[in-house]
Amino acid sequence: MDAQQIMELEKNFEVPVYPKRNMVLARGQGTRVYDSNGKEYIDCAAGVAVAVLGHNHPALVKAVSEQAGKMITCSSSFQNEPRARLLERLAAVAKPLGLSRSFLSNSGTEAIEAAMKFARAYTKKKNFIACMSGFHGRTMGALSLTFKPAYREPFVPLVESVKHVRYGDANALRDAIDENTAAVFLECIQGEGGVRMPPDGYLQQAREICTQKGTLLVIDEIQTGMGRTGKLFASEHFGIKPDMVTLAKGIAGGLPMGATIVREEIAQSLKPLQHGSTFGGNPLCCAASLAVFDTIERDHLVQNAADVGAYFMNGLKRMAAEKKDIREVRGMGLLIGMEMKKPVKDYLMGLAERGVIALSAGDTVLRFVPPIIFSREDADKVLAALNEVVG
Ligand SMILES: Cc1ncc(COP(=O)(O)O)c(C=O)c1O
Repeated sequence: MDAQQIMELEKNFEVPVYPKRNMVLARGQGTRVYDSNGKEYIDCAAGVAVAVLGHNHPALVKAVSEQAGKMITCSSSFQNEPRARLLERLAAVAKPLGLSRSFLSNSGTEAIEAAMKFARAYTKKKNFIACMSGFHGRTMGALSLTFKPAYREPFVPLVESVKHVRYGDANALRDAIDENTAAVFLECIQGEGGVRMPPDGYLQQAREICTQKGTLLVIDEIQTGMGRTGKLFASEHFGIKPDMVTLAKGIAGGLPMGATIVREEIAQSLKPLQHGSTFGGNPLCCAASLAVFDTIERDHLVQNAADVGAYFMNGLKRMAAEKKDIREVRGMGLLIGMEMKKPVKDYLMGLAERGVIALSAGDTVLRFVPPIIFSREDADKVLAALNEVVG
């Protein structure tokens, strides 16, 4: 099928909720993807911060192929080795955060739904607080926490009793919590909202406030987790211990998976069948996720994200000092935003012409979320392309 036919089919037969880039991607290898004409691109999108190991990583391909030949599906009413091993692994990596048990699902939004239900079950309270510019997903519960009115308003009524407070304003957070607040949902860095960093001390204050008020703190690490920011969990940068953490995106290297990782007492407040998922914790995705954790550890990829991220960010900051189009560069590790003075559509097209795929985060922010195997040479090539595109 040629590119034109593929684009026509998607245009004619998909529910038209996705704005499409004019590009048919056919395959990937490492930090590169190739379109249907064979043109190579450096992939700074990674399926929106998903392909942490890049594309076609041999460890992931091997784990998935081997597991597919053994067993793809297994209801969570039965035990299964890849699931058991992954649950143990998640407990081990989340131990420094004080978290011990996981609920496995299939996406970020489901990881948030689980956290909302668990918060209500544990606290017996009803209300939630989230932040302006925050993004937590698009199913009815998670959508209630997501801020952007254009995403939420056509679908009301959503979960009632959600308040949105200004991100970074600890006093506003303190004032918004009342005796019926079950949980506060925060991103360590607001990803979709424009790669927005927390002001110094904000997350630590949020932790203290939640503890004082008897409200749970849920940190949404769906975009910031899996090593992207230079720590396995971004929460570690800030020294905070959340009551629950949500993961998805890179957790299984591109296979669909979400995880809600919780404190022991929260897990113990749940009763059988109060929550569940047909596909959650299936052996195929669990095997993939184990391969991701193994590879991240073996190849020191968290450190790589920190090192190459700092290198890339320095290059971008140097560029920002010279170019008038750039307002600000921000982020951590390989979660980087570059705020421009005008909409980013043309920059994205210019980059694609030069063999670089990047993303937007809102109208004016260019977002770079490459695989965490990204190298300095990859970063140099992206910087060279940007240099030509940005005025
Ligand atoms: C911080 C955050 N939470 C939740 C989600 C929703 O994840 P999913 O699209 O897998 O449902 C996203 C997706 O971009 C996200 O960035």
